[in-house]
Amino acid sequence: MELKNHTILITGGTSGIGLAFAQKFAELGNRVIITARNQEKLDKVLAENPDLTGFASDVSDEKSLTELSKFIVANFPDLDILLNSAGIMRAINLFDDELSLAELTAEVDTNLLGTIAVTQKFLTVLSKNHGTVINVSSGLSNLADGAHPIYNLTKAGVHFYSDALREQAKHFGHDLRVVELVPPLVAETNLEAHSDTTAPNNMRLSDLIEETLTGLSKNAERIDAGFAKTLHTMGKVDSEENTRKLSASMLRSYFPPTK
Ligand SMILES: NC(=O)c1ccc[n+]([C@@H]2O[C@H](COP(=O)([O-])OP(=O)(O)OC[C@H]3O[C@@H](n4cnc5c(N)ncnc54)[C@H](OP(=O)(O)O)[C@@H]3O)[C@@H](O)[C@H]2O)c1
Repeated sequence: MELKNHTILITGGTSGIGLAFAQKFAELGNRVIITARNQEKLDKVLAENPDLTGFASDVSDEKSLTELSKFIVANFPDLDILLNSAGIMRAINLFDDELSLAELTAEVDTNLLGTIAVTQKFLTVLSKNHGTVINVSSGLSNLADGAHPIYNLTKAGVHFYSDALREQAKHFGHDLRVVELVPPLVAETNLEAHSDTTAPNNMRLSDLIEETLTGLSKNAERIDAGFAKTLHTMGKVDSEENTRKLSASMLRSYFPPTK
């Protein structure tokens, strides 16, 4: 797949992974439209990146997605790549009984239902244009992570949804490629702003972009970037023991013992 002359919609394109891909895709000669909720941040990013087009939209709000869909159909009917990158992640104490159900499950709305809803809005046009859906899951989709219990399950959901969508496209004869991008820890993002950029499992944003572009050029269906390859193996071999180890280390880090 040559990454030039495409029309690419990127959700969550105002920071981190989404913004880095938007800049790279624009530099390679593609038309790029980014979305995010915060209009002020979007305006700032567009002022700094005049090659990009922006549209404020919330992936967890159906009305807002309908507006986005109208905008794309009217202005970019040749849309052929969708990158579902919008996402949030919180460390959650499941024993905190002050958390409302909405607070507890916000990641389900954005990461999982958001990915499904945005894809559904553009599936017909993407298929008609022989397009590609790229869903961003996470290395944490391979194992249960005790510190991010809801995030963790949303990314496992994105993984299974992506596999099922790919199989349906083949079964029903749609010319639609489905790619799962599985990043490891990428500390140069808002989502992981507190994380250590020198951690051995961290991947530089520029390396994530390069490894993804290589994967896309080789028509990979799943791109396990950097340490996500190890996490993939850990989820397949001795997964119960690896889950205990990963969760213990995450829980110590996010909820350090008080005494
Ligand atoms: N960073 C990592 O280590 C890492 C590792 C594995 C996977 N990932 C995944 O990579 C993706 C990008 O994350 P990132 O690290 O680049 O995070 P980030 O820097 O926090 O960027 C998240 C982007 O998503 C947007 N967003 C959040 N909620 C949204 C919503 N409801 N509707 C529309 N846009 C929304 C944000 O803008 P607004 O807040 O203005 O909406 C922002 O543009 C996520 O799916 C994340 O789970 C990240």
